[in-house]
Amino acid sequence: MPHYHKLGKVPSKRHIVFKKPDGGIYAEQVVSTEGFSDLYSITYHLYPPTRVLKIDKSYSVAPEIAIGDNMQNRSFKGFSVKPEEDYLKSRVAVLVNDDVHLSLAAPKKSMTGYFFKNSSADEMIFIHKGSGTLKTMYGNLPFSYGDHVMVPRGTIYQIEFDTEDNRLFIMESFSPIRFPKRYMNKAGQLLEHSPFYERDIRKPEELETIDEQGDFLIYIKRDGKIYPYHYASHPFDLIGWDGYHFPYALSIHDFEPITGRIHQPPPVHQTFEGRNYVTCAFVPRLYDYHPESIPAPYHHSNVDSDEVLYYVDGDFMSRNNIDKGQITLHPIGIAHGPHPGAIERSIGKKETQELAVMVDTFKPLKITKAALGIEDADYYKSWME
Ligand SMILES: [Fe+2]
Repeated sequence: MPHYHKLGKVPSKRHIVFKKPDGGIYAEQVVSTEGFSDLYSITYHLYPPTRVLKIDKSYSVAPEIAIGDNMQNRSFKGFSVKPEEDYLKSRVAVLVNDDVHLSLAAPKKSMTGYFFKNSSADEMIFIHKGSGTLKTMYGNLPFSYGDHVMVPRGTIYQIEFDTEDNRLFIMESFSPIRFPKRYMNKAGQLLEHSPFYERDIRKPEELETIDEQGDFLIYIKRDGKIYPYHYASHPFDLIGWDGYHFPYALSIHDFEPITGRIHQPPPVHQTFEGRNYVTCAFVPRLYDYHPESIPAPYHHSNVDSDEVLYYVDGDFMSRNNIDKGQITLHPIGIAHGPHPGAIERSIGKKETQELAVMVDTFKPLKITKAALGIEDADYYKSWME
């Protein structure tokens, strides 16, 4: 998680009178997580954040499970997910469990008529294609290809896209998304061996204070349902805020790879972690430099983790016939490894241009009906010569 940040105006102390120019008092709100025991921010609004006009009927967006007990290596054509005008409707959950939901999305339009707040999950929105601005109550965060856009739960946001050609890989995490503990010192500062540094973490730098009253629709997601709430004032009415709870971005292009004389294990590629999962970034890098090294990964058995790879760009040395946007799932209990010819092909190679995001879950993932619709059904046989 990023460190303390402040935008706009805040009073000299917490919980004291903070006067508006007209003599009124700004509405203080503490946005806290895990009760009052984890990251929080203190926000100051033009109007109280509690002015609900009405609540429309809630509806389910829970993923439909097709296979709850997967024991097969699988592959899905992520770019076969159809583009959809609306951002929320575009999000298609493909692999899910109680810790994370992994979704694909190809939204065409910016969010204009509504706002979104995920109250159950932190979101990591990986930008595979497209650029734009994440607009939030905490300020604006521009994003582009390769960004992990991190949105902590409870953040009200809109996304503005620059064009209609967008592809997103989204992880909802039902626990806080953190930097790996081993990357940080006791004070939470990123250590010298971490593949990224505080300077690589981009925070919102522009706070727009919108003073508008009317009818503002916020779709609030909780436990697989959307609750349409109408508020009487614009949710981006903050005059200032400070704290640790806010969105940020880390570009996969700023991840500095760790290489060695022989094959380095996946943990050197780690980016984030949460309850029962880790994420990694595979980025362009020099290959192992022992004269007899085999750059392709060894075969391995995931004794206790499901391994999901989302292929972004470049040439995937260990795999045959991999497309951009493809997802492979190698479940707990089944060995996997380089495709036929990949080991021989890799020997003597100096570098790779591969770009991929990995999510390893320590509990099995369920496969949704939507995922089956884009599956390459014969993938599990793809290691036969
Ligand atoms: Fe693997």
